[in-house]
Amino acid sequence: MTATTSDIEKAAEVLRAGGLVGLPTETVYGLGANAEDLAAVARIFQAKGRPPTHPLIVHIASAEHLDDWVEEVPVTARLLAEHFWPGPLTLVLRRGRRVPLEATGGLETVAVRVPDHPVALALLSAFGGGVTAPSANRFGSVSPTTAAHVRAELGDAVDFVLDGGPCEVGVESTIVDATGGTPTILRPGGVTREDLETVLGHPVAVPATSGVRVPGQHPSHYAPRARVVLVEPQKVITEAELAQEQGHQVGVFLPASLADASVNAHAVVALPDSVDAYAYGLYGFLRGLDQRGCDLIIASLPVEEGLGLAIANRLRRAAGPRHSV
Ligand code: TXA
Ligand code: MG
Repeated sequence: MTATTSDIEKAAEVLRAGGLVGLPTETVYGLGANAEDLAAVARIFQAKGRPPTHPLIVHIASAEHLDDWVEEVPVTARLLAEHFWPGPLTLVLRRGRRVPLEATGGLETVAVRVPDHPVALALLSAFGGGVTAPSANRFGSVSPTTAAHVRAELGDAVDFVLDGGPCEVGVESTIVDATGGTPTILRPGGVTREDLETVLGHPVAVPATSGVRVPGQHPSHYAPRARVVLVEPQKVITEAELAQEQGHQVGVFLPASLADASVNAHAVVALPDSVDAYAYGLYGFLRGLDQRGCDLIIASLPVEEGLGLAIANRLRRAAGPRHSV
């Protein structure tokens, strides 16, 4: 059920008291704390099992508040903020004095965004300050896109969860380094590279992308319990059936172009045709295959255009080597 005004008031109180709030955004659910409360920020890292050197995003109510949180706003950053906020864009800028180093993992820069979700915006207005919020999952695992996912991931470690329904975008925000010079994409996400390039009027660099099955480059993140293996689209069915015959419980991400094919596997996700619908469903698909007991997921990369760039980035990282003991 969607959060009521009194739920939002209660959540703001929890933040003021140093607690942790699960909050919906348009991308994924966040685990929020008062950005200026060192003990609350420390609890985020504890609840997620996240190393303290991994910086957090500060969420604010509107672009007008940006100057309160950063040292300076270059012209290009201002342009991007005015154009894309509220929305799935995070700007990395020089850290303002209000932002504790604990929230930035010791960095002199800070990531800031204005989420485009009525419940998140209402909470940010009611609270009044900045809310540091990483995705509300255990470190390294799949990001939550419903309130139920947040509870399943974090249980009692989160004091209060605001339900805002399923997240509309489904993958995290695009992170852009806008500290100076030409902006670069640090993480592809909900605002597409093409949209950024249209607004900026020039090409934007993205992190190095690699082909399928490149070991070592993409430490596992955004990962389900099942091992994820990426293959060429035309090999998805044969690889899945081979692994199933070898005794694996195989989950298949079946490309839309093969929608009518029958596959001998434990579970099949028929991928939607549109890349936006794919992004919306991505984390739920991964969670669903885990729940159905798959130990291996065979998938291929989508065309890396629009939200396809973010989906491919998450799939590569999900397929990355695990830090197992
Ligand atoms: O859509 C999103 O961005 C979601 C929702 C909740 O807003 N949040 C999210 O947070 O994805 P998190 O903590 O899961 O991912 C934040 C990413 C991390 O990869 C972190 O390294 C990067 O942002 N980041 C944060 N501050 C940074 C900084 N100062 N410089 C470079 N990267 C930074
Ligand atoms: Mg995350």
